Amino acid sequence: MPSYLVTGGAGFIGSHLVTELVRRGAQVRVVDDFSTGFRRNLDHVRGIEFLEGSLAELDVARRAVDGMAFVLHQAAIPSVPRSVSDPITSHRANLDATLNILVAARDAGVRRVVFAGSSAAYGNTPTLPKREDMPTRPLSPYALQKLVGEQYLSMFSELYGLEAVSIRYFNVFGPRQDPSSPYSGVISLFISALVEGRRPTIFGDGDQTRDFTYVANIVDGVLRATTAAGVSGEVINVATGSRISLNQLFRALRDLIGSNIEPVYSDPRAGDVRDSQADITKAQRLLGYEPLVTFEEGLRLTLEWYRTEIRA
Ligand code: UD1
Repeated sequence: MPSYLVTGGAGFIGSHLVTELVRRGAQVRVVDDFSTGFRRNLDHVRGIEFLEGSLAELDVARRAVDGMAFVLHQAAIPSVPRSVSDPITSHRANLDATLNILVAARDAGVRRVVFAGSSAAYGNTPTLPKREDMPTRPLSPYALQKLVGEQYLSMFSELYGLEAVSIRYFNVFGPRQDPSSPYSGVISLFISALVEGRRPTIFGDGDQTRDFTYVANIVDGVLRATTAAGVSGEVINVATGSRISLNQLFRALRDLIGSNIEPVYSDPRAGDVRDSQADITKAQRLLGYEPLVTFEEGLRLTLEWYRTEIRA
């Protein structure tokens, strides 16, 4: 197995990629600055190399990619509202770091870079599901940074011949998603509130929808993108292809947990997209991707994990 750099490997999605790569016998290096990740997310894996530092520094990016065949660029500050309140910090983490990784990867002769893009790039499209050839309309600094990141990858592919693929994630959830910040993903926030007997907040009327995707599906899509032929420069949705509302999500979780807690409704969040649902035909065609874990099964696995964590 070749070598892989996972940037943001101590984060939620990064740590799942690292786990699977190590399971497959790959040589793995992680670079992380612990801005949103935790060393404990990798406590269960052995034999990886760890580099602590910020990729917003070019020399850190160069040390990180040195000798690596593949780069899975997951490092980011992934929150829409955090980018609305602090666009500069978010820009450094999401865009300066991406350019540094690309320059370093080009110079080091990396075989392929796979980038964590975001469905946030679409904004509010008039039709659903969202297809990669639809016009983009970023509604937040985060969405714009992720979109420009993708455009950088496509441009590096064209201009320098660097193999580079962007995967547009939709709302990813699963074990190790950190619920401790107001900027955390909504499923982690709802579960931790319900399990601890607190009332979760729903921003807006709760009828906004998302294509909630269990993390194992993302890991599969990203790893397929490292080897698929003819994908350099492409942007590819990886999700489930369905959507549910926040109100439906809340009720599903409440039923699973066996709680009768009511949510608190609050003002809609600035920069939020209303509806999100992926068209996954491009991933099916180019990557041979199919969702492996359903939303319901993913929710069950995630809940099991939080219950153990919260009890511990
Ligand atoms: C999420 C990801 C982002 C990813 C994008 C792709 C996180 C933190 N964000 O953004 O990285 O690129 O999907 O689609 O994982 N909400 C509540 N109550 C809460 C928190 C959130 O009602 O306590 C609502 C929000 O207003 C929003 C929805 O839940 O309508 C989802 O919010 P969030 O989990 O923050 O994700 P996105 O903003 O969709």
